[in-house]
Amino acid sequence: MEVVAQLDDVPENGTLKVAAGGENLLLVRSPMGIFAIENMCSHAYQELDGGKVRKVFIFCPMHGVRFDMRDGCPSGKLTDKSIKVWHVEVHGKDIRVDFSRRLDKGA
Ligand code: FES
Repeated sequence: MEVVAQLDDVPENGTLKVAAGGENLLLVRSPMGIFAIENMCSHAYQELDGGKVRKVFIFCPMHGVRFDMRDGCPSGKLTDKSIKVWHVEVHGKDIRVDFSRRLDKGA
């Protein structure tokens, strides 16, 4: 597990880009918890940073594909390719990601 950020760095219902683990990581905070996902949409490879967050979903800011942050799966017709999702834990204020543990369908 690698400490990648502090909890207060990630806004409520918002995102934080982090370069860690050799990955293009996006931390997302919602009332459902913290999620660690790939900061790249599988449709036209735009950043998911700044996308609208709703519960366990993030919407790509470019064309609006919705991804489930629990398993990386998209909905709709623009893409059927999942994005990467990593196991994340919060200890105190530390956000820790396990880059060896993928939760997405493409893993
Ligand atoms: S680039 Fe994300 S929906 Fe098109």
